[in-house]
Amino acid sequence: MCGIVGYIGNEDTKEILLKGLEKLEYRGYDSAGIAVRSEDMNVFKVKGRIANLREAVDESVHATTGIGHTRWATHGEPSETNAHPHQSSTGRFTLVHNGVIENFEELKRDYLEGVNFASETDTEVIVQLIEKFALESGNTLEAFRKTVSLLHGSYALAVLDSENPDEIFVAKNKSPLLVGLGEDFNVVASDSMAMLQVTDQFVELMDEEVVIVKQDNVELQKLDGTTVEREPFTAEIDASDIEKGTYPHFMLKEIDEQPFVMRNIIQEYQDENDDIKLDEDIRKAMSECDRVYIIAAGTSYHAGLIGKEFLEKIAEVPTEVHVASEFSYNFPLLSEKPLFVFISQSGETADLRSVLVETNKLGHPALTLTNVPGSTLSREATYTMHLHAGPEIAVASTKAYTAQMAVLAILAVDTARAKGLTLDFDPMKELGIVSSAMESLCDQKEVFEQIARDYLSTTRNCFFIGRGLDYFVGLEGALKLKEISYIQAEGFAGGELKHGTIALIEDGTPVIALATQEHVNSSIRSNVQEVVTRGANDCIISLEGLDREGDAFVIPNVHSLLTPLVSVLPLQLISYYAALHRDCDVDKPRNLAKSVTVE
Ligand code: G6P
Repeated sequence: MCGIVGYIGNEDTKEILLKGLEKLEYRGYDSAGIAVRSEDMNVFKVKGRIANLREAVDESVHATTGIGHTRWATHGEPSETNAHPHQSSTGRFTLVHNGVIENFEELKRDYLEGVNFASETDTEVIVQLIEKFALESGNTLEAFRKTVSLLHGSYALAVLDSENPDEIFVAKNKSPLLVGLGEDFNVVASDSMAMLQVTDQFVELMDEEVVIVKQDNVELQKLDGTTVEREPFTAEIDASDIEKGTYPHFMLKEIDEQPFVMRNIIQEYQDENDDIKLDEDIRKAMSECDRVYIIAAGTSYHAGLIGKEFLEKIAEVPTEVHVASEFSYNFPLLSEKPLFVFISQSGETADLRSVLVETNKLGHPALTLTNVPGSTLSREATYTMHLHAGPEIAVASTKAYTAQMAVLAILAVDTARAKGLTLDFDPMKELGIVSSAMESLCDQKEVFEQIARDYLSTTRNCFFIGRGLDYFVGLEGALKLKEISYIQAEGFAGGELKHGTIALIEDGTPVIALATQEHVNSSIRSNVQEVVTRGANDCIISLEGLDREGDAFVIPNVHSLLTPLVSVLPLQLISYYAALHRDCDVDKPRNLAKSVTVE
């Protein structure tokens, strides 16, 4: 979602800000802008892509201080006017904001009567308040502090004051924000990726702090003005991990990285005796709980559905899976000793965070599975398990999803062993086999490109069916296809389609069926027959050993519980090529964001 960058130093800030915003493009946005200070404040804003912003920026302006923003619209449509930076009425203050100000209407009414607002955003209230209080007190820092203390909601802010040109004022609440340190310059970024181009040293900011960033100094203060000392950390992301290299799209690169991610996970979760390496406290929490509540959204929710099967079948731990946005407003009756497991690639999803805030209040232990260990959900949960998938840039999640399932399988096996259950399942060996199977699929991309061409070139809709684990993978296949190709796609339990939705089957309607589960192989094939009889164009993806003549693709044999880690790859690749054939923006689909920081 929204992204923030800022720079104060000696270099041409325009280019640093634009490059930084380009690195944040993957998070999803619909407009963008920068403000750079030369003699005057120069603000450039556009609706649409950073490429448009590059064109709009006046090359002749030379400035060494500036802030920039990518906006994903919440209050007010995506437009140049609603894009950030926003300015106060006199133009003295210029601000960028991530998050949502919940009490902006009250603040407008109580403090800003008679002020003319240029945009429809909640954000503009902040910059107008700063100006009002600065005029009253004559002190920008005081005005900034007072403003921040009135805000309810989530925010990461960076502010320029034309009358204090050597400073960027920064604060945050709930939304992530970092200050990056350099020699003779300092930067601000909502995600370290944006500023890896100039530094890998970052200081994490906490809620209820304000920070004054100068070229040669960064001063962290609490809201009461007391100074805070905090050591910087080194961002351990390899800058090349966030480049496409020779790949046309991040999504394709990330699909191809899945075999490597599996091997990485094996390495990270195995000790020198080939036992599972896991924090003792997590092991204890898993053995002590009487029920696991998995909370997740989107693709991570689909990984959670598979995780439930692992935890119940391997570890015999009763498990429920819930969509975060529903759970947060409708807590079910909880068991006596619940353990909450939050699954989130980004670790920032607001819907999950609002559940975590509640479960923390209730004193229940929480484990976050995330690809970003320093993220909000990781920091605020009791325990974290890292996915080790490497940065995922494409909005549509692929390698983080398979990593989530792999880590859940390891967690289930560890719990089973801790409980003394007898198991005929070595997760590391089986994940090694999964990795090789994934590799063989990645080598056969042309098959999936052809399937996408044959089945999805002109269709308006598509159904995915499966039974058991295949049903959950079908849900993920449908989500992938929707997200990036905009084809209306739905996943169904094989037996359920005939209870209504079969009415939509016409001549040529594509139905993609998964047949990787032995105990339901005959039933899913009967379900395929039901739709074929009504004109559907079927495409069956089966598992070696369960395959039948006419199947469109046969995936190599892997452990029956781990088939979802492999059977999803054809669906990812088919979605990728379907989107490509339809000229869609594969990595940055319309209306979507990678990290959804609003509820
Ligand atoms: C957004 C993304 C989805 C993702 C979901 C959950 O909606 O577009 O791809 O699955 O958020 O994200 P998380 O970071 O919590 O896994």
